[in-house]
Amino acid sequence: MTYDKKTATNTFTVTDNSTGKSYDLPVIEGTVGPRVVDIRKFYADTGCFTYDPGFTSTGSCSSKITFIDGDEGILLHRGYPIDQLAENCDFLEVAYLLLFGDLPNKEQFAQFEHDITYHSMLHEQIQRFYSGFRRDAHPMAVSCGVVGALSAFYHDSLDFTDPYQRVVAETRLIAKMPTIVSWAYKYSIGQPFQYPRNNLTYAENFLHMMFAVPCEPYEVNPVLARAMNRILILHADHEQNASTSTVRLSGSSGANPFACLAAGIASLWGPSHGGANEAVLNMLMQIGSKDRVGEYVKRAKDKDDPFRLMGFGHRVYKNYDPRAKIMQQTCHEVFDELGIHDEPLLQIAMELEKIALEDDYFIEKKLYPNVDFYSGIIFRAMGIPTSMFTALFALARTTGWVAQWLEMIDDPELKIGRPRQLYIGQTQRDFIPMDKR
Ligand code: SDX
Repeated sequence: MTYDKKTATNTFTVTDNSTGKSYDLPVIEGTVGPRVVDIRKFYADTGCFTYDPGFTSTGSCSSKITFIDGDEGILLHRGYPIDQLAENCDFLEVAYLLLFGDLPNKEQFAQFEHDITYHSMLHEQIQRFYSGFRRDAHPMAVSCGVVGALSAFYHDSLDFTDPYQRVVAETRLIAKMPTIVSWAYKYSIGQPFQYPRNNLTYAENFLHMMFAVPCEPYEVNPVLARAMNRILILHADHEQNASTSTVRLSGSSGANPFACLAAGIASLWGPSHGGANEAVLNMLMQIGSKDRVGEYVKRAKDKDDPFRLMGFGHRVYKNYDPRAKIMQQTCHEVFDELGIHDEPLLQIAMELEKIALEDDYFIEKKLYPNVDFYSGIIFRAMGIPTSMFTALFALARTTGWVAQWLEMIDDPELKIGRPRQLYIGQTQRDFIPMDKR
């Protein structure tokens, strides 16, 4: 069932006690999840802004793509539970679902996979962008730069008002991100770029472009390809998180999709967001051994210590992140396949998870492992360097960003995003010449 009409089903009445005036605010219900109080006329009616830094209580849009129940640890993409999608789908099936609203049938999937496959190459001149970076440039810096630069190449898919150009841009972004991200890795290690292979799946192609070399054939390990496929699905979309909201806000001004996604990549890079998977690995290496876990858990609880357990906590999930459970299971599958049985970092991570989940501080603050807690350990086992972890998150999230951007463009309620503020600065005062200051 979907919910198209946003009609009020109830009202909240608020009273300004300084004037005794009351205001009825419409309440709108979605198909599932919290109702919303429609405050679009609040400022015009009351002369007041609402105040919600970090948007902990604010719905920025209506959407049909992803639903999260943070208390129950539920994540649905177009109504399908994440564990069923991760277990049964190819990543491009989920991409199709996010973009178009339903899982594809055989013909639809074949056409979509063909379109993505045959757009995975980059314009040859884009290689020159890479040589402008230092070899030790962070892959997120490179990805952000190259994706933004696509606006300088693909002039025929910048106009978001043209439905055809929207489809072309959407296809190019999803198709080319594995190439862009893998080339950032190849450039950093001084190996030649690998071109995509049209006979491989999306996840297989990415692993091929990451690890193949021209000197010998490269066979993608099917267990690792299945793990990568699942990890891409787990990271594909997640409602109105910081980077998705950045893409939407950028797109609301009419900026082209490549520029919007470059902004999303920049936002995802932060250690509180997508950068957490890299930060988790660095944290586990800093802890160094199982017997020091208690010391770091203590530090994480100390208000005066800036140390936080990276990979723990979430703005929405106040229960276990459903993606973290699947990630943990994938971690064991990859380690079994690779014959890794006593990986110290995994031992430290499992000890950390055990202690934290039994500790009153984490229980009381509802801090559970999130999607980033295990992903880095898996990537490292696959031979992917720590600096590439967030770029892989960006690769997967590109599909969610594009789906959310398309939904926003089609939304009849689309307006340029322009939040206001509580001003606490100086009142008006006159200029003082420098010699009088
Ligand atoms: C992602 O939004 C999304 O959906 C994001 C994401 C996606 O798919 O797009 O799910 C991906 O970004 C996952 C989150 C990855 N980040 C980390 O793992 C970094 C570590 N986590 C924290 O920085 C934190 O938990 C956040 C940023 C994730 C959430 O922060 P909130 O919601 O603003 O909560 P908060 O920082 O106010 O914390 C609430 C309390 C605080 O204590 P008090 O001030 O109430 O006393 O919990 C404490 C915090 O000090 N706390 C932690 C902690 N996280 C929160 N204490 C120790 N270790 C932690 N990790």
